[in-house]
Amino acid sequence: MRILIIGRGGREHAIAWKMAQSALKPELFIAPGNVGMNTITAQTGAPVTLVSISENETEALRDFALTEHIDLTVVGPEAALANDIATVFTAAGLRIFAPTAAAARIETSKEFAKDLMRKYQIPTASYRTFEDYDSAKRYLDEQGAPIVIKYDGLAAGKGVVVAMTAEEADNALKDMLLDNRFGEGKVVMEEFLQGPEFSLLALVNGEQVVPLVIAQDHKRAYDGDKGPNTGGVGAYSPVPVIPQAQIDWAVEHIMKPTAKALIAEGCPFCGVLYGGLMLTKDGPKVIEFNARFGDPETEVVLPKLKSDLTQMMLDVLDHKEVNPEFYEDAFLGVVLAAKGYPGSYTKNIPLNDPTGLSQQVFCMGVKEEEGKLLSNGGRVLIVVGRGKTLKEAQQDAYQGVEKMAHPDLFYRQDIGWQAV
Ligand code: AMP
Ligand code: GLY
Repeated sequence: MRILIIGRGGREHAIAWKMAQSALKPELFIAPGNVGMNTITAQTGAPVTLVSISENETEALRDFALTEHIDLTVVGPEAALANDIATVFTAAGLRIFAPTAAAARIETSKEFAKDLMRKYQIPTASYRTFEDYDSAKRYLDEQGAPIVIKYDGLAAGKGVVVAMTAEEADNALKDMLLDNRFGEGKVVMEEFLQGPEFSLLALVNGEQVVPLVIAQDHKRAYDGDKGPNTGGVGAYSPVPVIPQAQIDWAVEHIMKPTAKALIAEGCPFCGVLYGGLMLTKDGPKVIEFNARFGDPETEVVLPKLKSDLTQMMLDVLDHKEVNPEFYEDAFLGVVLAAKGYPGSYTKNIPLNDPTGLSQQVFCMGVKEEEGKLLSNGGRVLIVVGRGKTLKEAQQDAYQGVEKMAHPDLFYRQDIGWQAV
């Protein structure tokens, strides 16, 4: 079994580490990957080759997969999905666990996602879409604050403003519609919702929906959920504030209807459908969908998965029934990020060798120069602790974090605070 994984972050490290443990004894190729992923071989026995093709070189990736007789390709980042890598691979007769660009619009276009949810009555915040500032401003005057303003398109996690005052909302509208901060585009204005958030990831193929355990990520950079929004600086699973009955409800009333809706719209989904959900007083509602594994949720969800992920993906591709098993243990991951992240951050930070740690470390942004491990990005690595309870998992994680700490790295001290 020859597997190609596309991407270079902690998410792809976790996917590769988990797929490597398969009974199918796979050989892994990761494009481009990062040097931290080489530890997978010592941990699992699976050979790992890093391939220097970037995630956006769709044709080069396809040619590599053809020449190397790759049996299964798995895609991490949304940019590759938006390039329609799934269609290109399928047309070449290659098996790929990833949605087409048309199906991935559920992530890449907020307007597509919101219209789909409205049409198929999938619970989400009410909303309107605007292209010009004047009509958006008029709607704001009617609705008042708090209100949520979202740029319609990929904006690297910076396109959402939860405005608590009308002035903040107006500034966001000016920024997005008059000054074209993210380029020319539309905005979606949404009803402000309240409640705990959780991420529900499912392996999907057409109508088939195989939910994984839920996770919660921490988006704000600093303790107490303060500071700027980031790609995610910590995560944990399970999420005790969300009752199982609500998760089951979300699978039946959100995830399955969404999979059916995408079929009805002529773009059936294959791959990981990620529901970013909020448990409101009226039940779970969709905040956003992603068309891929979440980062850093994947780094705690996959360690909790007991079943063979490689086999699960193959079975889902074959429309076979899949009933995943999970460990009872709790998992909690703390991200070590370069000082300054998510703004401009310190580069080339020397890193301690993570190989001796009892905790699982997934490398998010690392490189090797002259035999030394250095940081190579804002989010550098994530240390995942394990325990019978979240409290124990948290203690375990922070013991590992201390061993990886460096004056030029920072991390939150309170990952999991809502749950422990
Ligand atoms: P998104 O990029 O759509 O996930 O939004 C980023 C964050 O903004 C979410 O994780 C929420 O915390 C917050 N947010 C987004 N939409 C809403 C909403 N309608 N009501 C309240 N908060 C929201
Ligand atoms: N952790 C949020 C995301 O992957 O989009």
